[in-house]
Amino acid sequence: MHVDILLGLQWGDEGKGKIIDYLAPQYDIIARFQGGPNAGHTLVINGEKTVLHTVPSGILQERPMNVIGNGVVIDPVTLKKEIENLLAKGIDVNKRLFISKKAHFILPTHKILDAASEAAKGKEKIGSTLRGISPTYMDKTGRNGLRVGDILSTDFKNIYGRIKEKHLNLLKIYDFEYELNELESTWFDAIDFVRSLNLIDSEYYLNNALSAGKNILAEGAQGTMLDIDFGTYPYVTSSNTISSGACNGLGIAPGKIKEVIGIAKAYCTRVGSGPFPTELDNDLGEQIRKIGGEFGATTGRPRRTGWIDLPALKYAIMVNGVTQIAMTKSDILNDFETIEACTEYEVDGVLSQQIPYDLVNTVVKPVYHQLCGWKTDLRNFSSYDDLPETFLGYLQFVEEYLGTEVTMISTGPERERLLFKKAASIA
Ligand code: GDP
Ligand code: IMO
Ligand code: MG
Repeated sequence: MHVDILLGLQWGDEGKGKIIDYLAPQYDIIARFQGGPNAGHTLVINGEKTVLHTVPSGILQERPMNVIGNGVVIDPVTLKKEIENLLAKGIDVNKRLFISKKAHFILPTHKILDAASEAAKGKEKIGSTLRGISPTYMDKTGRNGLRVGDILSTDFKNIYGRIKEKHLNLLKIYDFEYELNELESTWFDAIDFVRSLNLIDSEYYLNNALSAGKNILAEGAQGTMLDIDFGTYPYVTSSNTISSGACNGLGIAPGKIKEVIGIAKAYCTRVGSGPFPTELDNDLGEQIRKIGGEFGATTGRPRRTGWIDLPALKYAIMVNGVTQIAMTKSDILNDFETIEACTEYEVDGVLSQQIPYDLVNTVVKPVYHQLCGWKTDLRNFSSYDDLPETFLGYLQFVEEYLGTEVTMISTGPERERLLFKKAASIA
């Protein structure tokens, strides 16, 4: 019938996994559309934490099928580990996971190239997760990639060999030591494992499902400010993380899309290098990091923290066509006397709500609006209407600025901690 999209509006780690897991029973299919194992989506069910990197976040729910779309780049080694962990938890992965034959593989040499390129950049490094994302997407757009469907070809080893040779030549431009043999043997073991999975023509699977009246939730990875076109370039990832990426990454037409659910934290985080106008590089930032447990789900790196950035969110809402917002981690600000929200950027003495073309080389001074903290434990509330006035005031301020409703409030990492403003207009 239709496709809803759920994606991040900031610099990733907004809590996409948690919300998708909650909403998953309302859909027939959860389909991841871009990114790769640079993502870490955390689900907490009955106190047990599961971090997913490649497998869609609907996998722990009974109802939906899960599809890894053509727009995703797959490291077979990470995928194998992830599936083995799920099997150990008793999840019947094989029955509910499908992988697009058109998704591209991350090769061991892609990971080495990623590390070599980052090392060569020195202080200007992107802060990549070093999962081989950028070299793999470069090979995809350069028409040199290795696709999942290729493992069914008798020519597979030759295709692999040709790409590897090219990479070894490229690596000569770097002064970078590496050891390939062990990585390669683990990779080929994992490829054999992938052969046993359900490899499909996912664009047909998804469109046939839509024709049969089924509903799909498209799962984004990373966040809008990391989008290859609209993020803080070059400090971005290598895929289109915005809503249009769901069309490319799944093969679904724009007209099939209904809701675009944007996820934002009540504050901001960023992991890796690059501009972050509202960053709190001080004790307050450290306090938010500590209370919020802001350490990367994939790399364990401390996340940079700052106040909510409304101009950036407004921009994200514009480029995604967001129809409703889910706000996460408001509970982290429970004890704050005042909450600040950036409403404008000051550039060369001029105030603007617009994101400058080049945030990297433009000095931006965020202008803040101060709001009263709610000083109440939001985890004690089980209904949206009962939430404290001060918190609802904060929400109203955010909604009015963004011109978009916050329909979901997440008050903790656990699956059940999600409050709805009204009967959500999804699925
Ligand atoms: P994702 O990449 O967008 O799926 O987000 P991550 O899983 O990388 O990071 C979000 C972190 O916040 C995870 O540790 C979640 O368990 C946690 N989380 C999600 N929503 C909430 C919330 O509303 N409150 C709190 N305290 N934690 C949350
Ligand atoms: P999820 O889906 C937060 C960041 C990296 C780095 C930049 C480029 O969990 O929200 P890459 O490995 O893609 O070459 O890194 O993007 N990054 C993320 N930050 N959450 C993510 O995913 C991220 N995936 C990549 O830290 O700054
Ligand atoms: Mg994450």
